Amino acid sequence: MQCDYFDAGACASCTWMGRAYADQVADKQRHVEQLLAPALAGRPPVAWLPPATGPEEGFRNKAKMVVAGTVEAPALGILGAGGRGIDLRHCGLHEPGLHDALPVLAEHVVRARLAPYDVGSRRGELKHLLVTRSPDGELMVRWVLRSTEPEARLRKHLGWLLERLPVAVASINVQPEHKAVLEGEREIVLTEQATLAMRLDVGVDVGVDVGDGLRLHLRPQSFFQTNTTVATVLYEQARAWVAETAPASVWDLYSGVGGFALALAGPGRSVTGVEIAPEAVVSAQLSAAEAGLDRARFVAADATAWALEQPRAAHPDLVVVNPPRRGIGPALTGWLESSGVREVLYSSCNATSLARDLAALASYDVEAARLLDMFPQTTHHEVLVRLRRP
Ligand SMILES: C[S@@+](CC[C@H](N)C(=O)[O-])C[C@H]1O[C@@H](n2cnc3c(N)ncnc32)[C@H](O)[C@@H]1O
Repeated sequence: MQCDYFDAGACASCTWMGRAYADQVADKQRHVEQLLAPALAGRPPVAWLPPATGPEEGFRNKAKMVVAGTVEAPALGILGAGGRGIDLRHCGLHEPGLHDALPVLAEHVVRARLAPYDVGSRRGELKHLLVTRSPDGELMVRWVLRSTEPEARLRKHLGWLLERLPVAVASINVQPEHKAVLEGEREIVLTEQATLAMRLDVGVDVGVDVGDGLRLHLRPQSFFQTNTTVATVLYEQARAWVAETAPASVWDLYSGVGGFALALAGPGRSVTGVEIAPEAVVSAQLSAAEAGLDRARFVAADATAWALEQPRAAHPDLVVVNPPRRGIGPALTGWLESSGVREVLYSSCNATSLARDLAALASYDVEAARLLDMFPQTTHHEVLVRLRRP
């Protein structure tokens, strides 16, 4: 992939920009296998499936733009040296629909007089623009503001925006503190609709039929996998493995909006998702109700604390874990080791913490694994691992 921003030295976020894509994937596979090797030594060999890839550009379903510059000429992108805004609205990683939306959103910033926040002087209101695009082409647009001062102007000019872009959900996120966090706790939804429907064609790639696919509701403040194409393969792969052993009960720990839980739900199987972000839990509950899955439930809790509290008789046949970069840690690996859980699927975005957790899960064989290239042009990786008690 070629990128003008990278070539001009304006953005260095994609450290592998310009490298042949096949080499990137081969390198990631080697790197992940190397990181996992010490944890796998002395265990039966792992069956590595071919890496899953999608488009090498235009794959990001979410744009996270810092807003800088002036109200007449806002810059949407990143902050450079000295807090200066660098405009990256034509970033080639974004899906084409986001690409088309960002200039219109920049024009809307000018119309609604949303003064960009200046980190140096601590003046201005608009900190970030967060835009997610659904596979059906609808958008969720969130303005991260320092205060609600611009709310009336935003509401006044919302009609202009809705006439030009397929915005399904628009919201204000209030982040009053002067610190480098993406968003705050308070959300004010401006549209009638509060969820973006992410419809995934789960079932296509590995031949598992789920009818019309998976419809995941996404509310503001909920995590969603960055790359819709590769996320679809991730959930499909989990379904294919789970279909082989047909567990009667599944827990999806770190469930987000319920991607794994809902992909694995089905007749005769109970699924429980556990997730710390309440908005994501509400999203998952909505998706389950819409799909008529009365044996799928979602709990807002810390995954480890919740698992440790459950009586042994309630332990499921299979557990999915998909934690943040820090991994699941000793308390949860210790609980799995002493539990009656026969099978674990571990989806990780950090092979270093995965290696540490696998080493602690000594009672399980690591039967199979698959690299999923969710983040082309960067060294980041996603890996799905299947563990089973011998
Ligand atoms: C990598 S995301 C995975 C989400 C989901 N499995 C999916 O496929 O989209 C990790 C999720 O863990 C949640 N999380 C973080 N810390 C947690 C904790 N202590 N207990 C439960 N969930 C947590 C985050 O809010 C986030 O939704």
